[in-house]
Amino acid sequence: MARIITNSKWTIQGKYVVITGATSGIGLAAAKELATRGANIGIVARNQAKANEVAAQIVALTGGRTTVDVFLADMASQKSIRRVTADILAKCQRVDVLINNAGALFETRQLTEDGMEMTWAVNHLAPFLLTTLLLDRMKESEHARVITTASHGHKMAKKGINFDDLTAEHHYSFPKKFIGGPTFRYAETKLANIQFTAELARRLEETGVSAYCFDPGLVSTSFNQNNGLLARMTMAVMKMFSRSPEKGAETLVWLADSDKLTGHIGYYYTDRQTTIPSVPAQNLDATKRLWMVSEEQIGIRRL
Ligand SMILES: NC(=O)c1ccc[n+]([C@@H]2O[C@H](COP(=O)([O-])OP(=O)(O)OC[C@H]3O[C@@H](n4cnc5c(N)ncnc54)[C@H](OP(=O)(O)O)[C@@H]3O)[C@@H](O)[C@H]2O)c1
Repeated sequence: MARIITNSKWTIQGKYVVITGATSGIGLAAAKELATRGANIGIVARNQAKANEVAAQIVALTGGRTTVDVFLADMASQKSIRRVTADILAKCQRVDVLINNAGALFETRQLTEDGMEMTWAVNHLAPFLLTTLLLDRMKESEHARVITTASHGHKMAKKGINFDDLTAEHHYSFPKKFIGGPTFRYAETKLANIQFTAELARRLEETGVSAYCFDPGLVSTSFNQNNGLLARMTMAVMKMFSRSPEKGAETLVWLADSDKLTGHIGYYYTDRQTTIPSVPAQNLDATKRLWMVSEEQIGIRRL
């Protein structure tokens, strides 16, 4: 994936950025910074009150110089994502940057209304579906970028994605569930973010839409607060070694804003540098298989 892009006149100023997971943590920090730099923001969130509060904060921060729209969707529901995409397409004449950032880890195995395992649905299928449905609008911009928040945690998925167990029964079975199974499941979804980005970039060659993913590092956010006392205590300890959300958002903001992004499209970035992901992340057969499986799971074959 070594195409050099030449959009040296790129600036985030005046661009329209759709971002998920901006009600908290890394996404919130990124949305504020991008708005400060002149981007107009579309927040896709499940919690209307939180999203309205964030929108008000951003408008106050920029003195009303940028517009902030709120779009409501639960990233665990394909129906909800389809509905919100229709809202975005109706409201926004252009989408220049799509940031797939919402994500979570689930200690208990849950199936979504679509029959998907929850971590997979929120962390991988939601970006896959949202991107697929917004791509035609993005292609209308001279240049556009899709940026997905991955994680160094993908390295824990040492055997790659287990395509024979897409609803993760194994990870949540006894005793796996109590010895890191859910974290390994999370790792599979973050590996999927990297493989999705690589394949998306390949399929979008020559379109003007580029794709990137990144690792924010270990960041002090609300991540893993949905999993009970032990998880919250673990996160409290980890916070002592964590970056601020602003620091965690730096590479994301750079990927969205930089006019010097002449590096590799489809790559995985850490601290503004391309980084070689794990060996399974570089497996081309698995990457193509992931794409096919994901198309089946969202019921769309478009690219
Ligand atoms: N924190 C880290 O150390 C770290 C490291 C590597 C990668 N990451 C990745 O960074 C991304 C952002 O996480 P964060 O650390 O900033 O955590 P966070 O503070 O918990 O933020 C997660 C965001 O995702 C949203 N979200 C979660 N589930 C959703 C759903 N079903 N529908 C709609 N929105 C949903 C949350 O909305 P609500 O406000 O409604 O909950 C929130 O805005 C994730 O993809 C995570 O995997 C984090």
